[in-house]
Amino acid sequence: MQGKVALVTGASSGIGLAVARRLVAEGALVALVARTQKTLEEAADRLGEGAAAFPADVKDFATLQRLPERVAARFGGLDVLVNNAGVNHRGAAMEQPPEALAEIVTTNLTAPIYLTRTALPFLRRGGVVVNVASLAGMVPVPHEAAYSASKAGLRAFTRALAEELRGSEIAACLVSPGPVDTGFFGDVAHVPDLVFSQPMSTAEQVADAVLTCIRERSPEIAVPSLSGKLATAGYVFPALARALRPWLERRGAANKRAYLARRGVS
Ligand SMILES: NC(=O)c1ccc[n+]([C@@H]2O[C@H](COP(=O)([O-])OP(=O)(O)OC[C@H]3O[C@@H](n4cnc5c(N)ncnc54)[C@H](OP(=O)(O)O)[C@@H]3O)[C@@H](O)[C@H]2O)c1
Repeated sequence: MQGKVALVTGASSGIGLAVARRLVAEGALVALVARTQKTLEEAADRLGEGAAAFPADVKDFATLQRLPERVAARFGGLDVLVNNAGVNHRGAAMEQPPEALAEIVTTNLTAPIYLTRTALPFLRRGGVVVNVASLAGMVPVPHEAAYSASKAGLRAFTRALAEELRGSEIAACLVSPGPVDTGFFGDVAHVPDLVFSQPMSTAEQVADAVLTCIRERSPEIAVPSLSGKLATAGYVFPALARALRPWLERRGAANKRAYLARRGVS
């Protein structure tokens, strides 16, 4: 990664921060993007000279239009784009305000597509786009309908783009994590038990997968990989997914109780 330039969205916490930390440790120069300026600047300061804060809301397309150019001007080029910023509003779709559902799709799907398009002309030979999706994009999760749709859309976009780029010097890759121990859960009580049925990963484990994508140009990595295989089976055989769901939900509920107990929440 020595001398490579990366742009990472959602880089002030969780997976994005872990990715940025790994990239800087390996000698890359990293542009960090998130909305909350103070948190972002503190993260950039902690990462040191190799990092710089570019506060932005990825829903602001006028900013995304110029962002890759600004990063390339600051660091002398661009090699890696990691579309990682994401949001979720959990609950039955019928009970969500339409604005909340639209925000999920704009942040998780439209913004990465827009930023990929504006970044592509700036990516140098050997450049990589890594999109952070979710197991929920491989097999849809009830009470996370718009989120599942946004991540399935991001997966479809990435796979189609990878084909379009085949034979060029640029690659497009996808990382699809199961549950990851970050602030993304918010109020854990609202997270469907099904989500907790899969083993919990750390942000660092997901960052490892992102770094593998960048180095090896792997088309798609699920974290953990066995959960990815289970999700694929669930998508191909929806009747099987429906039959297994009660068992997975019981397992998830037990995992959730254990997770809360570890955090001292009753
Ligand atoms: N944690 C999980 O269980 C899990 C599982 C599968 C996939 N993922 C995916 O992994 C990605 C990262 O999640 P995480 O777990 O690391 O969550 P996190 O710790 O909550 O981090 C989310 C990051 O995205 C930024 N962000 C959110 N909305 C933004 C916007 N509109 N514009 C710019 N930045 C924005 C946040 O900063 P600001 O709020 O300051 O903007 C923060 O830096 C997401 O795409 C998520 O869908 C997470």
